[in-house]
Amino acid sequence: MQVAFFDAKAYDIPSFEKYGGENGIEFKFYETKLNADTAELARGCDAVCVFVNDDVGAEVIDKLYGEGVKLVALRCAGYNNVDVRSAYGKIHVVHVPAYSPYSVAEHAAALLLTSLRRIHKAYVRTRDYNFSLNGLTGFDLHGKTVGVIGTGKIGRVFIDICRGFGMNVLAYDKFPNPEVPAKYVSLDELFEKSDVISLHCPLTSETKHMIDASAIDMMKKGVFIVNTSRGALIDAEALLEGIKARKIGAACLDVYEEEGDVFFEDLSGHIMDDETLSRLISMPNVIVTSHQAFLTEEALNNIAETTVNNILSYFNNDGVCDNELCYRCGEIENCRKGERKRCF
Ligand code: NAI
Repeated sequence: MQVAFFDAKAYDIPSFEKYGGENGIEFKFYETKLNADTAELARGCDAVCVFVNDDVGAEVIDKLYGEGVKLVALRCAGYNNVDVRSAYGKIHVVHVPAYSPYSVAEHAAALLLTSLRRIHKAYVRTRDYNFSLNGLTGFDLHGKTVGVIGTGKIGRVFIDICRGFGMNVLAYDKFPNPEVPAKYVSLDELFEKSDVISLHCPLTSETKHMIDASAIDMMKKGVFIVNTSRGALIDAEALLEGIKARKIGAACLDVYEEEGDVFFEDLSGHIMDDETLSRLISMPNVIVTSHQAFLTEEALNNIAETTVNNILSYFNNDGVCDNELCYRCGEIENCRKGERKRCF
C-alpha cells in the first residue's frame, strides 16, 4: 500500500517509517504541502497523509478523487482544513482525535509562564551577563482567574494544571461537561472576569474570530490570552489593536490565522510579507511559537501509530474506522458509527 505523505518534516519521518514499515505501508514523503498544484503527486497512491496546513478543499478533493485516492488520513486532530462536505461520497477522511492532550496543555502552560515571568527576556539577558531585573516583574497565578474556552481533552488537562497553581477556573463550552472541575459561565462573563484566557475549542464557522474587537472590549485590562488551538479563533488585527491600546497584557500564540505559508518553514533571511504577524512578533508582550504544541516524543509516536492503524482499518477488515469523520459527525440521527458502518 502506498501513501503520499505531504508537508513531511524531519521529525515526522522516523516514526512513520517505523510503524508503516512494520505494517506494509510505504509512505512517499513530500516536503511540499498538498494543494491543487501538488495533488497529482498522489497519483498511484491509495491514500494521502496530511497535516494542519495542507489544503484539502473542494478542488483538491476532486483532483485526488480523479487520481484514484480513496482516503485522506489526517495526522492531527483538527480538520478545519478539509472540506468534509465536498469529500462526502468521494473520499473518506480519518483523523487522530487524541495523541497527547498533555503535550498541548503543557505547552500552553509553558507559554503562559514564560510570558508572565519574562523567562524569554531573562534568558537573553543573562547570556549577555546582564543580571538586571528591571522590567521582569510578573504576577502570581495563585488566586487569579483563568477562563478556559473548550473543555474537551486538552482543555481539561489545562484546567488541572491551572488548579495546581491555585487558580479559580471559569469555563465555557458549547457542550458543558458536569465532570469538569470548573464553573461554567457564559462567554461574556468569562471575558469579563478572567485574568488569563486560554482557547481549546475547534475552529468552526461558529468559533471563527470568537476573540474579536468586541470580545476584547469586554476583557479585563492586562488580560493574558493563550491560543494553542487554531489561529482564526482570534481576529489577529483586533488582537494587535488591543495590544497597541495596552488593553491586552500579553498574547501567547502557538497558532496564527494566516500561519499556512509561514509556520514550519525557516524564513530567516527573508522579508516577512505578513505585516500583522511581524508587528505582533515585534511586541515585547507577545510570544509566538510555530504550531509546536503537539511536538513531544509521545505525541509523535501516538500520531504515527494511530494514523497507520486508521489506514489499516480502512483498507483491511470491514473498512470501518472508528476515527472516520464526515460533515454529519455529531448529528445523532444521521451518524452511522453506532451501526459499525462507514460514513458513506
Ligand atoms: P476535543 O474535541 O476533545 O475538545 C474540544 C471541545 O471544544 C469540546 O469540549 C467541544 O464541546 C468544545 N466546543 C465545540 N464547539 C464549541 C464552541 N462553538 N464553543 C465552545 N466550545 C466548543 O478537542 P481537543 O483534543 O481538546 O483539541 C482542541 C483543539 O486543540 C483542536 O480542535 C485543535 O484545533 C487544537 N489542537 C492544537 C494542537 C497544536 O499543536 N497547537 C494540537 C492538537 C489540537
